Amino acid sequence: MAGKEVAVLWLLAVLGWGSGGKVLVWPADNSHWLNMKYILQELVVRGHEVTVLLPSCLLILDPTQPSPFQFEVVEVPITKTEMAALLEEAFYFWLYEERVIPAWESFHKVAQFMHKLENVTRIISDEVLKNEALLERLRASTFDVLLADPLAPSGELFAEKLGVPFVYTIRFSIGNTIERLCGTLPAPPSYVPATVSCLTDRMSFLERLKNIFTYTVLDILYHYLFWGSWDQYYSDVLGRPTTLCETMGKAEIWLIRTYWDFEFPRPFLPNFEFVGGLHCQPAKPLPKEMEEFVQSSGEHGIVVFSLGSMVYNLTDEKSNVIARALSQLPQKVIWRYKGKKPETLGSNTRIYDWIPQNDLLGHPLTKAFITHGGTNGIYEAIYHGIPMVGIPLFADQYDNIAHMKAKGAAVGLDFSTLKTQDIVDALNMVINNSTYKENALRLSKIHHDQPVKPLDRAVFWIEFVMRHKGAKHLRPAAHHLTWYQYHCLDVLAFLFTCAATAIFILVKCCLFCCRRRGRITKKKKE
Ligand SMILES: *[C@@H]1O[C@H](CO)[C@@H](O)[C@H](O)[C@H]1NC(C)=O
Ligand SMILES: *[C@@H]1O[C@H](CO)[C@@H](O)[C@H](O)[C@H]1NC(C)=O
Ligand SMILES: *[C@@H]1O[C@H](CO)[C@@H](O)[C@H](O)[C@H]1NC(C)=O
Ligand SMILES: *[C@@H]1O[C@H](CO)[C@@H](O)[C@H](O)[C@H]1NC(C)=O
Repeated sequence: MAGKEVAVLWLLAVLGWGSGGKVLVWPADNSHWLNMKYILQELVVRGHEVTVLLPSCLLILDPTQPSPFQFEVVEVPITKTEMAALLEEAFYFWLYEERVIPAWESFHKVAQFMHKLENVTRIISDEVLKNEALLERLRASTFDVLLADPLAPSGELFAEKLGVPFVYTIRFSIGNTIERLCGTLPAPPSYVPATVSCLTDRMSFLERLKNIFTYTVLDILYHYLFWGSWDQYYSDVLGRPTTLCETMGKAEIWLIRTYWDFEFPRPFLPNFEFVGGLHCQPAKPLPKEMEEFVQSSGEHGIVVFSLGSMVYNLTDEKSNVIARALSQLPQKVIWRYKGKKPETLGSNTRIYDWIPQNDLLGHPLTKAFITHGGTNGIYEAIYHGIPMVGIPLFADQYDNIAHMKAKGAAVGLDFSTLKTQDIVDALNMVINNSTYKENALRLSKIHHDQPVKPLDRAVFWIEFVMRHKGAKHLRPAAHHLTWYQYHCLDVLAFLFTCAATAIFILVKCCLFCCRRRGRITKKKKE
């Protein structure tokens, strides 16, 4: 955001703007924060007071910078350096090891990483909960709503502890487990693919088998690996027997960061709102130097390349494979990269620490976007109708690219086996073959043709929860059912028993009759 806009928002926040409500925020790091920030800025513009409860180890936020939000910094015994090291280690694993080392070793590493992350989350939670002064201050502020991302657990716990209704903003959970099991979002496994399965809504028999298997395995993993230890913690803090999942299910509204331009059609509940692309905006002019470079590409146009805000360097080998491919293109290339300059970098490629990605994708000369497939970047490409070459690296990115491939707007590549020629071929494909551009434009038209813009819908529901102290009228009764009641297994069992009893009696009667008749005929013969 430009300095001037920050200043205006900051002024609005300082002036208090009178009648607005009070919003407490439990943020998640990195791209999750980037997305949430747009909602918070809009809330400030509409006169609400936004307070971010900020653990001091979060990397993306610097509370000393001027900001339209107030910060309640929670000092935690983890440094930003330790946090960065943890992430660096995770990225190295995802980029260079996960698909190369044996599956069981890979699984072990993921479990280890999850354990470390859980440890961090637990430490942060403890710090907030044992800080009586902070809790008292938060309670006294009488917040109207708490906004949280379930990726960083304990937002819902603080909301319950403070007695504030809460709203989630979420992209996905692995296997949609949190939405399905805690939010009771229906997901028929016959046509709703599990997130991270990379399946589409058209599944063969074997794919449906894989889908059900994925759902089941992930549900078991969540229950026993991730949630188990939190259930006791939540019960202790809230002073009544409860579970993490039950507490998460108390979210008034779930703001999902996708929309039907990206999702496959599927059933959803009235308290789920699909607000994908809420951060997208029309392109602004580029910096002068960059605009000149873009213009110098002539009729060939440019390719925009970014692997996202989190992966800023690559090994020499990978960066050279990529640079060599880019140097063979007739297009000019703008590459967001912070690592060492590759030796094979072509004269048509320029490297930048940071790029105005949205403005570049909205430039009329942009022909294609090479992306790691983060939701924010994909939405900017959809918004501007740009075909993509996806190089997914981790988390939901494989799935995101699978969606874009299924909709005909992207070609996917495998980072672990990336070859120079693959990149060249993929780019030629999406640039030369007009079907990719046409599909991207079709998605763009769907995205722009909505009755109410996604950002306005997101803010509407947060304000609704503030005005009505929740949105209980949208809450499905599924929350009160056990899993066997939900699937009517008890009713089926009852009906089955009735049918079995009836058949048993019928068979017994028949046998009895037959035997009697047999005896009578036998007697007659005698
Ligand atoms: C959890 O974090 C603390 C503090 O950083 C550390 O001392 C402890 O060893 C960690 N435990 C695990 C299991 O990683
Ligand atoms: C990226 O940079 C960091 C710090 O400069 C370094 O520790 C790390 O090894 C680099 N990663 C790769 C893949 O080169
Ligand atoms: C595709 O485009 C590239 C340049 O972008 C060009 O060299 C190549 O000949 C084109 N291929 C076809 C089949 O048009
Ligand atoms: C263009 O791409 C579509 C979709 O992948 C494919 O069916 C078609 O054969 C391609 N056309 C050419 C000329 O390569």
